[in-house]
Amino acid sequence: MKTTIIGVAGGTASGKSTLVRKLQEAFQEEEVLILCHDFYYKAHDELPLEERAKLNYDHPDAFDTDVMVADIQELKAGRSIARPVYSFVEHNRLPQTVEVHPARVIILDGILILENKKLRDLMDVKVFVDTDADVRLGRRLSRDIQERGRSVDSVLDQYFGTVKPMHEEFVEPSKKYADLIIPEGGFNSVALSLLMENIRSLITKDLYSSMH
Ligand code: ADP
Ligand code: C5P
Ligand code: MG
Repeated sequence: MKTTIIGVAGGTASGKSTLVRKLQEAFQEEEVLILCHDFYYKAHDELPLEERAKLNYDHPDAFDTDVMVADIQELKAGRSIARPVYSFVEHNRLPQTVEVHPARVIILDGILILENKKLRDLMDVKVFVDTDADVRLGRRLSRDIQERGRSVDSVLDQYFGTVKPMHEEFVEPSKKYADLIIPEGGFNSVALSLLMENIRSLITKDLYSSMH
């Protein structure tokens, strides 16, 4: 089975995860697998919660990217993996893992996945979701307060302390590696349907070539 790998990068709250979820919903569950770079944030069991909350989570070194690369290679080789589980509320990796099976299409989701050459080299299609910084900050405020256990002050301190400077240093420059730049993410229905058609034809072509 040939595995097609699609990378979806872009700044925080640009709409990556929304886009990727909508893409997956258009296919059968076993056809498309989502693997987020976020699952691979490093564990920090050695620090108390208030110290973990102060770490820089927007620098490439915050992630165990080599483990993610190894997991993708396992999936490509047709073997299942036990992927890590991350909690934004705990600012830490959780003890449990999730068993993940190989799929025809793997979508990678993360702010820095285009910044990393090993991940880039695994991708067949590279997408960058491009949303203005003020829109992203607004979305991040509401999402992190509703879903990630944060306060207005903590989101703003983190945004101006690390998120924005790291975005400018690492995320924005990685846009140059994209094959496709999508404004506004998951609510861009034209871009969404083009990507869906592309994935559908990749799956069909693969099925056809495996029968002949
Ligand atoms: P990312 O994964 O890039 O950080 P998300 O997909 O989690 O971004 O989106 C961040 C927040 O913005 C979520 O609460 C989501 O529901 C919302 N959102 C995403 N896309 C849009 C959009 N086009 N318009 C309005 N809100 C959006
Ligand atoms: O979904 P999104 O792309 O926004 O996820 C990445 C963001 O998660 C990063 O900008 C990082 O600041 C944030 N993050 C966090 N707390 C953590 C880990 C990541 O706020 N413990
Ligand atoms: Mg996300």
